[in-house]
Amino acid sequence: MDGLAWQTAFVSGWAEIDQEHRGLLEMLQQLRLAILEGATFSQVKPQLLACATETERHFQHEETLMAAANHPLYLSHRAAHQNLLRDLSLVLENGQRHPENLTPETIETIGALVVRHIREEDLPMLSLLAHPEELAQQQAAELTAENVF
Ligand SMILES: [Fe+2]
Repeated sequence: MDGLAWQTAFVSGWAEIDQEHRGLLEMLQQLRLAILEGATFSQVKPQLLACATETERHFQHEETLMAAANHPLYLSHRAAHQNLLRDLSLVLENGQRHPENLTPETIETIGALVVRHIREEDLPMLSLLAHPEELAQQQAAELTAENVF
């Protein structure tokens, strides 16, 4: 099974977000294919930069939705985004320094992190965003906990 393929298990119910996730995975698949077919770092650099830009734009989209809902996972989710963006920029930096080390596996590795983020962090976060009554309960529970401690 292709680890970068879109899966129905990734459907969150937020059509725009799902479309963005799908688009990011497709970009990574295209990058991997180009490298597999022999493209050099300088040849795929524009694709890598576009992927980083799209990822950042997508993360901002999620963060805007979360901020508007006063989502209780906002800070931890934003930190996860920052880690992923750092990992992506490391791929670019390493490619710049050691272009010969850019392999399809490099893209698989970053793709695996993106897929894990979608499954383990986006889906629970988006599910909570779709159920404002649960969101309100969590926020109330957090406020209560703050008063107790
Ligand atoms: Fe996310």
